[in-house]
Amino acid sequence: MKLSIYPSSVEASRKLILHIINIMNEEPVKTFNIGLSGGQTPALMFDIWANEYSNVTPWERMRIFWVDERCVPPTDSDSNYGMICSLLLSLVPIPYENVFRIYGEMKSPNKEAKRYSELVEQLVPDKDGFPEFDIILLGAGVDGHTSSIFPGQEKFLNADAAYVTTVNPINGQKRIAMTGNVIINARWTIFLITGGSKAEVVNEICYSGDVSPAAYVAHHAKNVELFLDEVAILNPSEK
Ligand code: 6PG
Repeated sequence: MKLSIYPSSVEASRKLILHIINIMNEEPVKTFNIGLSGGQTPALMFDIWANEYSNVTPWERMRIFWVDERCVPPTDSDSNYGMICSLLLSLVPIPYENVFRIYGEMKSPNKEAKRYSELVEQLVPDKDGFPEFDIILLGAGVDGHTSSIFPGQEKFLNADAAYVTTVNPINGQKRIAMTGNVIINARWTIFLITGGSKAEVVNEICYSGDVSPAAYVAHHAKNVELFLDEVAILNPSEK
């Protein structure tokens, strides 16, 4: 696990964008299957990406998938697709046919999780029985959830299905979430975690066992990198 710590969330976002572009430039003819997370943290990064790095990003070689989605229509302020689309995808020249969203508005989240699992299994090459994404971008909640796998839902870390329906225990909202076996199968698994409220969860990821879904993923995925700002990591003296 590699930690990269920056003075601010803006700097962490910029370096993460450049890192993804560099990874893609190392394989200049390959199309990359990329899984994006939502939530508040990456919103800044998507905004910076559209405004500062659009010209140097090989958009035509990206296929965009979602790590997780809230079960709401794309127009809802909670929609991860809606957020990523308005801040990034609608502003850059990515081919529309390379964007594969989860339909959060579907009446049956279970059916949608199945449809999206099948779509991902069809489009993303298999490795060892699970789709192998090139890059998966993750966040972590203060409770240690990642994707939409919350503490208490650890069975989804080792599910057979690529996506399942979960429930946010705080507000009962249904979600559709990429499961653990797919996340840890990715070639690169990159966490963006910023803000002082996340210091405990980062501390657990770095220094504890598999105490949360985020810690489990960080400990079991292949190339794991954490992009952090300074306040997201406790000083060793504060541990
Ligand atoms: C979501 C995410 C989720 C997110 C964490 C952190 O839909 O909420 O994809 O896994 O990464 O909850 O969210 P914040 O950045 O909002 O704290």
